Amino acid sequence: MNQIETRTTDWNLVDQGEGIPLLLVHGFPLDHSMWRNQIDALAQHVRVIAPDLPGFGKSRAKEPGLMSMDGFANRLQELLTALGVDQPVCYCGLSMGGYIGWQFWKLHRQQLGALIACDTKSLADTPEVARARQMMARLIEKEGSQTIAADLIEKLFDESTLSQQPELIKQTRKVIHESDRDVVAGAHRAMAARPDTTSWLSEIEVPTLVAVGEHDIISTPDEMLQIANSIPNSTFLKIARAGHMAPLEQPQAFNQAVVEFLARLDLS
Ligand code: MLT
Repeated sequence: MNQIETRTTDWNLVDQGEGIPLLLVHGFPLDHSMWRNQIDALAQHVRVIAPDLPGFGKSRAKEPGLMSMDGFANRLQELLTALGVDQPVCYCGLSMGGYIGWQFWKLHRQQLGALIACDTKSLADTPEVARARQMMARLIEKEGSQTIAADLIEKLFDESTLSQQPELIKQTRKVIHESDRDVVAGAHRAMAARPDTTSWLSEIEVPTLVAVGEHDIISTPDEMLQIANSIPNSTFLKIARAGHMAPLEQPQAFNQAVVEFLARLDLS
């Protein structure tokens, strides 16, 4: 593990390997360990940078306060600068990490060479979903993050993962239980407030891999195919026997597609 301090954040991250920087941005309410099946494998090909977002895992926001998807994108840019990364990166984000990815494209496109959008959405929350998140945020503040773990685990994983990979489920549950209740509540509110970025997709000019688990019920394959169809230079990948956590559930299929995608890039 590496630690680095920037203006806003004390970061905990993995920085491993050499070559094209591949920034792996985790989903909600997790941390960099959701990429545990990617880090060693992909660091044989590229420089893998996998941080805990500020407030999650062991990264601490120095100025906790209102969170936002664009705020996270700015902090990731701050991290890249602190790591001396000034060339274009391949940004890979899952779900909330993907919401932040659209903002990274908007705000820091000079530093974006390629994009991997995993199990994510471009649509904003419907008013009903946003209201449910506000209620959930209040509940988490009162009772702690573990209160959402059981329901969330059911939604995150494919049935085959739930029945055949107990250790992986146990580790994910532990991360959710240990996550800071105020951060998790704040992230729910930030996601409820995120903008609809669908109209941005047709302007995304960088090579993009759109990957989704075939049984993802949070960001469905149909929804992700529409995202892929809207991004001009995109490749669509549907991963068998996987749900919302496709890279964690089926690393072989995901990693192979990423290695092939990275090999086609010219990010020097
Ligand atoms: C995630 O995996 O990051 C969440 O499912 C995102 C969300 O709640 O919209």
